[in-house]
Amino acid sequence: MKRSGHFLKMKQDDEKMVMVTAYDYPSAKLAEQAGVDMILVGDSLGMVVLGYESTIPVTVDDMIHHSKAVKRGAPNTFVVTDMPFMSYHSSLEETMKNAAKIIQTGNADALKLEGADEVLEKISALTKAGVPIIAHLGLTPQSVGVLGGYKVQGKSAESAKKLIEDAKKCEEAGAIALVLECVPHQVAKLVTETLGIPTIGIGAGPDTDGQVLVYHDVINYGVDRVAKFVKTYGNANELIRQALESYVSEVKTRDFPALQHSFTMNDEEVNALYG
Ligand code: KIV
Ligand code: NA
Repeated sequence: MKRSGHFLKMKQDDEKMVMVTAYDYPSAKLAEQAGVDMILVGDSLGMVVLGYESTIPVTVDDMIHHSKAVKRGAPNTFVVTDMPFMSYHSSLEETMKNAAKIIQTGNADALKLEGADEVLEKISALTKAGVPIIAHLGLTPQSVGVLGGYKVQGKSAESAKKLIEDAKKCEEAGAIALVLECVPHQVAKLVTETLGIPTIGIGAGPDTDGQVLVYHDVINYGVDRVAKFVKTYGNANELIRQALESYVSEVKTRDFPALQHSFTMNDEEVNALYG
């Protein structure tokens, strides 16, 4: 399996890094087979697979439950797990406890934390404890209430400068990579050129060191509408709907199951059964 130093080398070699989210055994298995560099067990699982309106209700136990399944599906891929809402904000001690629990029982290789400011000391302490940390700036969905919706961040020079400063501080605190979500491509480019660590963009334009997308967006599975920054590469909704409709229809019409799908008892036993 690749280690965090490998991703630094990829940036230095100008080799693009590909990350995709996965939330369970089959999605992780397919992501590994497709050759992604990293899998993210994102707290987007709250919306994508649990049906919540936001990532806010997701718990540490949810993250562990899904991380375990992902690790079983992709044992040879670097797995990053999101620390969920409020699991790294109350105190340093609480943060360390939650992080240890996710790393030790969910088998994550790194953790991702949103934000800078009061989160920087957590990034630093976790790094010192030996936990690889990925930072996440720009649109940080756990703060959607404060940001006032899912909006592009860093559109003014002033907010972009703050973002660049925050990015540098995340690197200084020890982050091994930085996710940049929904920021103008010019800002993502400048951050990417400024930092030594790799940037991983989503809605951040073509100039980041790597890219991340949500699994279900990539394959169009269970999503009604995708954001502007998404490109969809398949149509799982259609595939699955058609298969399920055929199944429903064939059971109703008695075409399935047929004898070929059935087990057989020999005639002697059948006679004895009726006799
Ligand atoms: O939870 C998630 O899927 C994420 C990515 C969008 C970066 O944090
Ligand atoms: Na997330």
